[in-house]
Amino acid sequence: MKNSIKVFAPATVANVVCGFDVLGFAVNEPGDEVEMRFTDTPGVVIKQITGDEGRLPLDAEKNTVSASVQHYLKHINRLDVGVEIELHKKMPIGSGLGSSSASTVAGLFAINKLMGDLLTVKELVPFAMKGEELACGYGHADNVAPALLGGFVLVRSYEPLDVISLPTPAGMYAAIVYPEVDVPTKDARQMIRSKVALSDAVKQWGNVAGLVSGLFMNDFDLIGRSMQDVLVEPVRSILIPGFEEMRKLATENGAIGFGISGSGPSVFALTKDEETARKITKLQQQHLHKININSKAFVSPVNAEGPSVI
Ligand code: HSE
Repeated sequence: MKNSIKVFAPATVANVVCGFDVLGFAVNEPGDEVEMRFTDTPGVVIKQITGDEGRLPLDAEKNTVSASVQHYLKHINRLDVGVEIELHKKMPIGSGLGSSSASTVAGLFAINKLMGDLLTVKELVPFAMKGEELACGYGHADNVAPALLGGFVLVRSYEPLDVISLPTPAGMYAAIVYPEVDVPTKDARQMIRSKVALSDAVKQWGNVAGLVSGLFMNDFDLIGRSMQDVLVEPVRSILIPGFEEMRKLATENGAIGFGISGSGPSVFALTKDEETARKITKLQQQHLHKININSKAFVSPVNAEGPSVI
């Protein structure tokens, strides 16, 4: 059995515009890294966190990585095991790119590997959801499931949990821009109305079904037509500087579709190739610069494999 391991887990784009809490996909970059090693003392300890500017808790009960690893060890009845964890944040916190999810997933993947793959990656999803609950008050799976499984994922049901991997059309790229303003998921969730009009619900589930069909049919136009959100985006987009202009730049320059990544403030476009993705992020960043907002951009194919040992 290995004594130590280093794991990378990818960032994710949750919701994919129309699928609030039920759709998500993973990207190759950015992502987080976790180093984990066995110790002689039972229990889970966070030894160090880098790249978080002191924002994340070192307390093992409060940190999503250690708390979910602890939960996993309890489940497999191995509370006698001792591990120490180093978390290397390689992506912005509160960006809408599944930052807490990437850390939690890296930790769970690491402990499961160290313990000899006792669970399948799909079986790790509920443990990662516990981490999300700790991070933002609600255990949604549309970041953690694609971070664990790679590709596009549908969370058909939460009770019972039913997670389905969807195909990714060949050549698809994600063009992500993160305007550097902080939008905590907890706050962004509180903005959403809890009741919706039936006419809006009809539009929304038509689009979710259309998007899933488009992925299976490799139909970029259908995917693009389906990337519309009448429920959440109208409220959340208010918090995102330059949102409408960034949409215009994306759609006028070849994007398949455009919208908010997770709870924002990051936005993303899907494209048919890398060149289009780079052009769109460049134009959007230029616009943000003009309105005095710093930003970061990430261009990546859809991640196929989920976490990896590095
Ligand atoms: N589905 C979640 C939300 C994802 O939109 O609040 C958070 O990244």
